[in-house]
Amino acid sequence: MRSNKIAAIIGLQWGDEGKGKLVDILTEKYDVIVRSTGGANAGHTIYREAKKIVFHLIPSGMMHKDKICIIGNGVVAHLPTLIEELNTLKSLGAKIAGRLFISDRAHIVFDFHKIIDGMQEEKKGGSNVGTTRRGIGPAYTDKISRIGIRMGELRNFESFSKRFMENVRMARVMYGNFEYDENHELNYLKSIMPEILPLIINTEHYLHEAYKKGKSILIEGANGTMLDIDHGTYPFVTSSNASIGGAIAGSGLPAQINPVIGILKAYTTRVGGGPFPTELHDETGKYLREKGGEFGSTTGRPRRCGWFDAVVARWTCVINGATEINLTKLDVLSGLKKIRIATAYELDGKKLDSLPYSTEDFARITPIYEEMEGWDEDISKCAHFKDLPPAAQKYIKKIEKLLGCPIKYIGTGTGAKDLIKM
Ligand code: GDP
Ligand code: IMO
Ligand code: MG
Repeated sequence: MRSNKIAAIIGLQWGDEGKGKLVDILTEKYDVIVRSTGGANAGHTIYREAKKIVFHLIPSGMMHKDKICIIGNGVVAHLPTLIEELNTLKSLGAKIAGRLFISDRAHIVFDFHKIIDGMQEEKKGGSNVGTTRRGIGPAYTDKISRIGIRMGELRNFESFSKRFMENVRMARVMYGNFEYDENHELNYLKSIMPEILPLIINTEHYLHEAYKKGKSILIEGANGTMLDIDHGTYPFVTSSNASIGGAIAGSGLPAQINPVIGILKAYTTRVGGGPFPTELHDETGKYLREKGGEFGSTTGRPRRCGWFDAVVARWTCVINGATEINLTKLDVLSGLKKIRIATAYELDGKKLDSLPYSTEDFARITPIYEEMEGWDEDISKCAHFKDLPPAAQKYIKKIEKLLGCPIKYIGTGTGAKDLIKM
């Protein structure tokens, strides 16, 4: 039995649960950090002193100087965004060479994918998904249609260029003669090759070799399980498996992942369209948005806010085989007189025993709430569970009981130190 381990951090709601912060904290304990799915739709926030750093493609462990970071085969990567992120990291003094690698099997997101993403959204009118318009859906569509272009193809820029031009031609056949300068993108890509090519390796092989040598690996999930293409609120989802299945397929690592750390905000947020049973349209929703700084890390859009949904969380714990939980942003709830938790769903007067299949039904659900006492105290300085106000302790214990999964970490602020370990 190996003593080194493979762990994963997976969002159990609709994204933005605070994955970046925990990855940054736990990186200390791991040798290699790997992003497994999604693309620059993700925005993972960490802080260095007062400085806010948001990662879209690069793993959130990159500020730890001795650690290796990998963008896995399951990611779709927009290279101009990657260059921007590299420049930010360099300006912060992070060393890149020999520390960051990208899978030659990862697919490339081009600017025309972003244009198509926007066109699809506009054509859908009021029933649009509310995507981040980062080209994620169109890039994964090319992958699944087996016409996608992978990072490894950049090693032969001439044949890559031909394939790229052919894909632009096909996109124009499908979507009309949209405004886009393919030569400009191609020239730009050529200009960044000296920086990109040294990063491209067979990361799946690298990870297995590292594992064999006793290195421990942390998989950084992106998006959230309720945005998962299979298990989320389809069609209001992203285009990849944001749950544990994506962590395995998108890294090439074996399924023996332990711990599987599920991340849950102490309330719920969602950005973009789609059903959200516990959404609050009142002053409390506004309170959560303002106090929690609930504005998208990628698009700046205000996040929709609502009560903690234990029906969703119980199911996403099951789907992912979560072994422990990080409950984040408990500090944001301080000051509320009463706090509610949705413990069950009703549809047409009947109790549901699982999440409904259809979006329409999901949108018609009546959540059944349990109301709990709130607390007034600022908890940002609480270092231990016992320091928390009794009502906050009760809230945590209640959630733990409803989920049937131990809460191992509690977030009390944005900083790496703002974490209670149970
Ligand atoms: P991610 O996409 O899951 O990495 O999450 P985001 O970075 O998009 O959004 C989470 C936001 O909550 C970020 O601004 C974090 O700095 C912040 N955050 C994370 N944990 C906590 C916490 O425990 N308390 C507070 N107040 N903020 C937190
Ligand atoms: P992180 O990793 C929150 C949402 C979008 C939209 C839907 C589809 O930061 O938690 P897409 O651009 O992927 O086609 O959009 O999914 N979405 C996210 N919401 N956090 C994310 O990532 C998200 N990634 C995608 O808002 O509703
Ligand atoms: Mg985010």
